[in-house]
Amino acid sequence: MKILLLGSGGREHALSWKISQSSQLDKLFIAPGNAGTKAYGTNVDLSILDFPAIKFFCLENEISMVVVGPEDPLVEGIYDFFQSDVELSGVSLIGPSKEAARLEGSKDFAKKFMFKHGIPTAKYATFTKDTLKKGYDFLESMKAPYVLKADGLAAGKGVLILDNLADAKKELKSMLFDGKFGKAGNQVVIEQFLKGIELSVFVITDGDSYKILPEAKDYKRIGEGDTGLNTGGMGAISPVPFANSTLKEKIENQIIIPTIKGLKADGLVYKGFIFFGIIMVKGEPYVIEYNCRMGDPETEVVIPRLKSDILDLFEGVASNTLSERDIQFDERSAATVMMVSGGYPEDYEIGKVIFGLNAITGSMVFHAGTSSDGPTVLSNGGRVIAVTSLGKTLEIALEKSYNNIENIEFEGSYFRKDIGKDVLLIKN
Ligand code: AMP
Ligand code: GLY
Repeated sequence: MKILLLGSGGREHALSWKISQSSQLDKLFIAPGNAGTKAYGTNVDLSILDFPAIKFFCLENEISMVVVGPEDPLVEGIYDFFQSDVELSGVSLIGPSKEAARLEGSKDFAKKFMFKHGIPTAKYATFTKDTLKKGYDFLESMKAPYVLKADGLAAGKGVLILDNLADAKKELKSMLFDGKFGKAGNQVVIEQFLKGIELSVFVITDGDSYKILPEAKDYKRIGEGDTGLNTGGMGAISPVPFANSTLKEKIENQIIIPTIKGLKADGLVYKGFIFFGIIMVKGEPYVIEYNCRMGDPETEVVIPRLKSDILDLFEGVASNTLSERDIQFDERSAATVMMVSGGYPEDYEIGKVIFGLNAITGSMVFHAGTSSDGPTVLSNGGRVIAVTSLGKTLEIALEKSYNNIENIEFEGSYFRKDIGKDVLLIKN
């Protein structure tokens, strides 16, 4: 098979690493890719939102499958673009249809879907410019902290959690009237605050059957002890020690199965990954959010634990035969630690020379935001390098990643030193 993978982050580097190991692969292209993905395929300078250019590339290069990493092309309808074009009838696309991708693209859509199908989630109401006053009343009827979510995609920044009512009202108005999150904030979902511990659960589906991938936990805040601003993710672990079989059964029965059935019942075509952001409240799982793709940095720990041929699974998705495919996992623990640019997630500089990448032993390096200048690798984003290790225990995996990340450096680089520590405390 000739494959085109869309995206340029650590998720796509991990996916390209895995796809390159498939016995079914003839050629892999990554658009646009990064300095790391080059080791596993050919980087192509294409915009992931330029569907006509992607089509042209697929036809020119006899691509048989497109794998979509990030959410934007999915929410913009790349699946439907491929489906509706006869010239592309021989190309399958791994990802949901535009309407189904609204599970991530619209918080209001996702909440309606969950309530309709009896999937546990926080109580909510949605407001627009015309219903600001009702929004204030709703906030007054709730207890602090107040959770406000921009309805649309806001690069992971559209959720505000506020401790006092006056601030919540002010922010609601600013989202609706001052374009605080642009168009994404034209509608605002106000939600009941749930207190608990979070985990990420992943499923791959062909629309009828599904396979559950290893769960993961990511570390979103910039600072140690989960302090400071939210980031794209500073590290991740898999498996998650507190995700015992009882919890996993509840997640499957109360969340995964009703979601797959609900998609089918609502005619929402879905052929790809579903990411369930779960929060556990007093032992009960609730959905915090859906994403229509794999997580990043979760992919950097989930994919290294997948033993099966990923193209075999993708082919099962494309041909609606996923139920016949075998899926096996590595029992070991995986841990990834992300090295980021100084200043991230606020302003940061790029183009810094990264040293020490060749000094890594016993870990995998996934590039999250890099470019290359000849043999030199340069930083090219906020999140730059993820160091993943496998180990018999989580402690061993973490130790390997930390020993190796110490050898990597670029001007201003930073990483959290406490990835996985919280769950080890729960366990011990
Ligand atoms: P989201 O973009 O929906 O994943 O929200 C970002 C983060 O905000 C989540 O990972 C949670 O940590 C937090 N969050 C979102 N919704 C709630 C909620 N209803 N209660 C508590 N925390 C929440
Ligand atoms: N790590 C969270 C995400 O990918 O959205």
